Amino acid sequence: MPAESFFDRPFDEGTLTKLRVLELYAREWLPVFLSAEKPPRPRLHLFDFFAGPGRDSVGQLGSPMRLLSQLKDYQKLAGWRNVATTVHLFDGSAKRIRELDENVSQARLRPPGVTLDVRALDFDAAFRETAAILSDPQAAKLVFIDQFGVDHVTPDVFRALVGAPTCDFLFFLSSSTPYRFRDHPAIKQKIARPDDYYHVHRAALDYYRKLVPAGEKYFLAPFSIKKGSNIYGLIVGSAHPLGIDKFLQVAWRSDEISGEADFDIHRENIRAGEMQLPLAEMRLRKTAAFESELEHLLRGGRLNTESDVMQVCLEHGVKRQHAAPVLIRLKREGVIDLSFRVPDVGRWNSPREIRLKG
Ligand SMILES: C[S@@+](CC[C@H](N)C(=O)[O-])C[C@H]1O[C@@H](n2cnc3c(N)ncnc32)[C@H](O)[C@@H]1O
Repeated sequence: MPAESFFDRPFDEGTLTKLRVLELYAREWLPVFLSAEKPPRPRLHLFDFFAGPGRDSVGQLGSPMRLLSQLKDYQKLAGWRNVATTVHLFDGSAKRIRELDENVSQARLRPPGVTLDVRALDFDAAFRETAAILSDPQAAKLVFIDQFGVDHVTPDVFRALVGAPTCDFLFFLSSSTPYRFRDHPAIKQKIARPDDYYHVHRAALDYYRKLVPAGEKYFLAPFSIKKGSNIYGLIVGSAHPLGIDKFLQVAWRSDEISGEADFDIHRENIRAGEMQLPLAEMRLRKTAAFESELEHLLRGGRLNTESDVMQVCLEHGVKRQHAAPVLIRLKREGVIDLSFRVPDVGRWNSPREIRLKG
């Protein structure tokens, strides 16, 4: 969709869901770096590379305003004064950046002590310019890439993000993306049903996962959002399992998210007409697909610890709590033995065992 029409109408439900997920994630992420009087990193940078003007046609806040508003809420935290925080808001359109600047001032969203870097910059130039910050090991970074389409997260950009220390990112696979990935030569053959968004999103994630350099520890998870009758995806990346876990907990907190983020569970009560959409099938299939793969891997003795189980959860973009029914059932059936029901992300590095019974 051209940017003009995107901002000239109210954000739709899918867009609002995406923004809410971003907002909730930022709300969890910021205190990690601002709570302690002696903060873990002396510098903090938030990046919104496709910031837009900050509002839609009816005044609903866009990503840059939401990030600033979350940040502002934390100015009383003990570490606030001891962290040099910069918010970088970029957009290729000079007009939108002017509007954004005005909107930020009008809403009084300039938190004290925070440096705002609001500039009209094309993504490629902005990304080049910020390379030094991204690679600064003393800076914590949160990066949001809300592109139209998928073109900007090239393999080089993706690898730079993955290789950056203490850098968590979210990027949006929008509009035409499922079709782009469907036809992508690298993944085309793997998609059994190209009209099936669930498989297309998993294939997109696989594509990015393969770009992570061998030996590099980096966690990626997908999250799907319903927008109209289509499904769009967010991909989130973090070097820390806790970061990804926080994201998934937030993203599945459906009661706090407007829209259809939780379309694939707790929806036995499908509304009239919905069964005609491929989505209806997919909704039922997403957690079913996760459960069936988890069971298959457990029965095959391929998952030996709770961390192995959590890895499968991440790959499917589901919470570790979603593993519990399968773990409980297989234990009851005498297939496996284990001492927990829900894997604990705090034990990622010293996980509890799962034993396959003979
Ligand atoms: C989906 S909108 C962003 C919406 C915004 N994040 C929000 O929540 O309101 C995409 C934005 O990207 C900008 N844009 C398009 N191509 C760009 C490029 N190559 N570099 C930087 N910005 C670009 C457009 O001007 C538009 O404002």
